[in-house]
Amino acid sequence: QDKSKLALRPPVVTIMGHVDHGKTTLLDTLRSASVAKGEAGGITQHIGAFSVPVKGEVDRSITFLDTPGHAAFTAMRARGAGVTDVVVLVVAADDGIMPQTREVLDLVRKDDNVKLIVAINKIDKLGADPEKVERALLAEDVQLESFDGDIPCVHVSGLTGKGLDQLVETISLVAEMQDLRAEKEGPVQGYVLESRMQKGLGPVATVLLLRGSMSPGNHLICGNTWAKIRRLTSPAGSTVKTVYPGEAVVVSGWKEVPGAGDEVLNGTESAVKKALANRIRKTETEATLQDVDA
Ligand code: GTP
Ligand code: NA
Ligand code: MG
Repeated sequence: QDKSKLALRPPVVTIMGHVDHGKTTLLDTLRSASVAKGEAGGITQHIGAFSVPVKGEVDRSITFLDTPGHAAFTAMRARGAGVTDVVVLVVAADDGIMPQTREVLDLVRKDDNVKLIVAINKIDKLGADPEKVERALLAEDVQLESFDGDIPCVHVSGLTGKGLDQLVETISLVAEMQDLRAEKEGPVQGYVLESRMQKGLGPVATVLLLRGSMSPGNHLICGNTWAKIRRLTSPAGSTVKTVYPGEAVVVSGWKEVPGAGDEVLNGTESAVKKALANRIRKTETEATLQDVDA
């Protein structure tokens, strides 16, 4: 594929790491800092993703996925959908390498398309020894830049915000090297990160868009439901006219609440309805066959 025909897109970044090593705190600090920096609207609810502008770069941003442990992420991973470009592995400086730290390392090693960044967290704590954690990581064959490897490592405190600018800068540099591009035109492909019923809006879903673009009035199919897009809302709560690849957006206009982790595709109204009828028929046939098996 001719890469020059594809538009640059924001990196999709997931924060992972052992329990209580500070993932949520770090994300909350990043999120509130970016809101304070003047993103439109306020964050009114948890929507599973948010965007942080890159300092000094017009039209550059990073899409962060919240709480990677949630069901959608597991479902997408099971389907082999590579939605994340960068994994930030959070390791608490006072705790060091723990079982879930190793799980993340295993996961990243299996996926050539994912770049790893290590964030040694809680450096504000008394007795925190980030250098010791670095040596322990090296012993686990994590080739950090500080030991002439190629894996960046930043020392941060999610609590005080120390080092978070450097973390964002590092993510931005890594993403630049990845040269992340996607087709803005052509078919839509996305994944549901979260979904729910919302008062006044009906069923809504936070969708991470991988390919194509979406605007109100477009028709989508997802699992056994469909939508004529009524409203698109950014993670920061503002109305969006068009969504592009690498961005997450809250979509309303669904007939029913779509499933977390399900794939989102587009089409004309008649194509979407025909595809949906086929899916429902297939589901019913499978159910009948299961009855026969039983
Ligand atoms: P799980 O989602 O349960 O896996 O935890 P988590 O990784 O999201 O950790 P969380 O952000 O909930 O933080 C766990 C505890 O560590 C909380 O008490 C935080 O206040 C504390 N904590 C997080 N980051 C820091 C930090 O940078 N410095 C200090 N001193 N405490 C921190
Ligand atoms: Na926690
Ligand atoms: Mg958490």
